[in-house]
Amino acid sequence: MKVLVIGGGGREHAIVWKLAQSRRVDKIYCCPGNTGIADLAECVNIDPMDFGALLNLVKYEWIDLTVVGPEAPLAAGIATAFRKDGRKIFGPGADAAKLEASKSFSKDFMRRYALPTAEYKVFNSYVHAEDYVRLKGAPIVIKADGLAAGKGVIVAKTVQEAADALRLIMKERAFGEAGDKVVVEDCIEGEEASFMAFTDGKTIIPMVSSQDHKRIFDKDHGPNTGGMGAYSPAPVLGPEMEKTVMETVMKPFLRGVQAEGMDFRGVIYAGLMIKDGKPYVLEFNCRFGDPETQAILRRLDSDFFEIILSTSEGKLAQANVQWKQESSVCVVMASGGYPGSYQKGKIISGLDKAGKMKDVVVFHSGTGFDGEHVVTDGGRVLGVTATGRDVKEAKTRAYEAVEKISFEGMQFRTDIADRAIKGSTCE
Ligand code: GLY
Repeated sequence: MKVLVIGGGGREHAIVWKLAQSRRVDKIYCCPGNTGIADLAECVNIDPMDFGALLNLVKYEWIDLTVVGPEAPLAAGIATAFRKDGRKIFGPGADAAKLEASKSFSKDFMRRYALPTAEYKVFNSYVHAEDYVRLKGAPIVIKADGLAAGKGVIVAKTVQEAADALRLIMKERAFGEAGDKVVVEDCIEGEEASFMAFTDGKTIIPMVSSQDHKRIFDKDHGPNTGGMGAYSPAPVLGPEMEKTVMETVMKPFLRGVQAEGMDFRGVIYAGLMIKDGKPYVLEFNCRFGDPETQAILRRLDSDFFEIILSTSEGKLAQANVQWKQESSVCVVMASGGYPGSYQKGKIISGLDKAGKMKDVVVFHSGTGFDGEHVVTDGGRVLGVTATGRDVKEAKTRAYEAVEKISFEGMQFRTDIADRAIKGSTCE
């Protein structure tokens, strides 16, 4: 079988890496891919938003199945367009992808189906939103309604910070149209965790738990990023909590999908806050998380292609989804200056040495090739993953590999997975 993967980050490298292990996969294409992915797949430089060109590639290369990584093409309707053309694709249709693409739509959906989530109000007027913030007080959460590359959520510690956030989003239009509306939400403080599941709209099968590290610096200091590392399992999402999430979040979610006739064949990712033993949904994403997927796919023991194919065909109930008992850790190495501006083209050394280490896989996020060397080509550059008997062993291995890699200006957190190590490491 031939598979096309859409995207070009660490998540897509992990997806390609796992698909390549399937005996049923003969060839993988990736649009646009990256330097690491090019070792396993034919990278074709087509924009993930150019659906016409992607469909032509699928037709002319006789590609059997497409897997979508990022949210933007899903929100723009790639899965709907492919299915209309009779193509198999893993990813929700535009109607369901709106659960990620519009925060107000998502919150209204959660309210309709009684999912646990913070109280909120939706505004399209700056003045009314500011009045509401002054009435409610802080801390309070301001969310741009649309997609904003992970930057549209601001947790305001003071009323002034909230007013500044409203101005940034609604008046200065920092995220363009995504800020036409805002969701103003009560702040729930607790421990964050990521819960992802495969679903075909009929069956829902959870993946192993994970936890992301969103801030750039150790101890959760500094600005938010796309994610500086992840580990799996996350002790906060142990077996009892997983049951609670399935009963109170995932099953009502599925009832909602069915009641509204949504075309959901892909991954549902609930960003959760666990407070006083109860999960609350902060947001839904309709795709694999990054970097969580880099850590999680290291633990998948089943044929990934079979899972993806059966989900896309609406036959997930037939899929075999098994996980390894071991733990995994992913440490993201980023360019100097990220998440602000950064330079590209820095030579990366030590990739071979790190890649040869036992139980280590280095996924490429933002890399390029200058004709001679692998060079940096993005904010997040590499995801260094390692597995071990427990999170502590996986962390030690991951950082041993990180030590072998260098590029000018590199930055990485040194405390990925510490939260799990200081607590329990059992799933
Ligand atoms: N790691 C956060 C995300 O994928 O949205």
